[in-house]
Amino acid sequence: MRKTLAQAEQMIEALRAQRQDAYYPRFHLAAQAGWINDPNGLICINGVYHAFYQHHPYDENWGPMHWAHATSNDLVHWQHQPIALAPGEDYDRDGCFSGCAVDDEGVLTLIYTGHVWLGKIGDDDQVREVQCLATSHDGVNFVKQGPVLAAPPGIQHFRDPKVWREAGSWWMVIGAKENQLGQVRLYRSSDLRDWQFERIIAQAQDAAQGYMWECPDFFPLAEQQVLLFSPQGLAAQGYRNRNRFQSGYLLGHWQPGQDFTVTQPFCELDAGHDFYAPQTFTAADGRRLLFAWMDMWESAMPSKAHGWAGALTVPRELSLSAQGKVLMNPASELSALRGEQRQWGAVNCHNQQQILGSNLHELLMTVNLAASEAERCGMAVGKAARLYVDHQARRLVLERFSPEPGLCGCRSIGLPGGDTLRLRIFVDRSSIEVFVNQGEACLTSRIYPADGDRHLSLFAEAGSAQFTDVQAWELASIWR
Ligand code: FRU
Repeated sequence: MRKTLAQAEQMIEALRAQRQDAYYPRFHLAAQAGWINDPNGLICINGVYHAFYQHHPYDENWGPMHWAHATSNDLVHWQHQPIALAPGEDYDRDGCFSGCAVDDEGVLTLIYTGHVWLGKIGDDDQVREVQCLATSHDGVNFVKQGPVLAAPPGIQHFRDPKVWREAGSWWMVIGAKENQLGQVRLYRSSDLRDWQFERIIAQAQDAAQGYMWECPDFFPLAEQQVLLFSPQGLAAQGYRNRNRFQSGYLLGHWQPGQDFTVTQPFCELDAGHDFYAPQTFTAADGRRLLFAWMDMWESAMPSKAHGWAGALTVPRELSLSAQGKVLMNPASELSALRGEQRQWGAVNCHNQQQILGSNLHELLMTVNLAASEAERCGMAVGKAARLYVDHQARRLVLERFSPEPGLCGCRSIGLPGGDTLRLRIFVDRSSIEVFVNQGEACLTSRIYPADGDRHLSLFAEAGSAQFTDVQAWELASIWR
């Protein structure tokens, strides 16, 4: 093992011993200790799922990026692996930034961005970013192969390669910034080493559409082509684009060798507080799956005081609705974590709160909108979060309440049409993920309930509400 990797491993062991677990996830991927952000290199190869993530193993803050690594045989139970990449060569001296993984005839190959600060550390105006390869024959130990693609003149930010194979070639999309506007550039190669520029597949038309587009991903879904990316600098508009940065997609059509014709404008993928840098991959059976970083840049992260920061969402499956909307649902594999089923059937609340119980992690319920005239009705996680239908505003609101770290406030979506609202909710020690009407909308937020304040309940304010088909499960831990 190289010195930098060995050092990082030692550090993680030391930090791991001090980690506190009040907020540590039970069924979400997270580092053993230290910091993580974007999911990287998601792949199923030789029958094994691999998830890598941006990682700083030296403390709980972002710093020189490494790639942490975990593997799974079933997408739900995971095992930590040794850190896969550490920065240190002249081309990746200050960070092994985000990227992807491909199966190159059985060889697990990582394509990542080597990041170098040319001026002061943290001076974003003076950086060098190149795309690099690393390969592994055993799926655990990686050998760096060096840079394969440098930024063209005039492009300073040039990162987060996502590569796939199609029509006999390798294709790569890269996020870039040119003249203070975000763009996604497309490259083509026959051998993963020699890359030719193809075209810009999409770009911001003005500053309101973002100064940098991070973490692009480009893939077919049903009859359409999705360009998923994480733009920085989008202007907030009403209820939209409320977070520090966004993640969403353009929909259109694309054939190798042709332009990407956009049929639908940018749409956010998740309406919660904490969802960024999503990356997709294909499951062994062809489903398009996704993980995202379940946090947001510059947000308070109370778990830092416990020696760790950052988690990924649960794996989600993407599909396309008849109306051309990308739907996200929990991957079906997650049901394997379910313990005994608790069932309440129909629950009516009138100006009251009904406690369902503690140690419940997945809640399924239907709100009968037609039969609920309460001004607000929904579910709560202790005092830390509420998910409710605001009858007057006609919105579904996710509200979190942790005044101490400054994490209070709401995210919401317009109520979908229909008389009922089907909700599938995952509550871990410091997160809530809400799937609405089979993936029509999602809201993902970090929440920080105090110990002893984690019970789930149903409530109705100023009137009555009818919930039906209420059921819940305790979920098992994902760690082997
Ligand atoms: C997105 C991002 C990427 C970059 C990585 C660095 O969250 O900023 O663009 O590669 O994080 O950690």
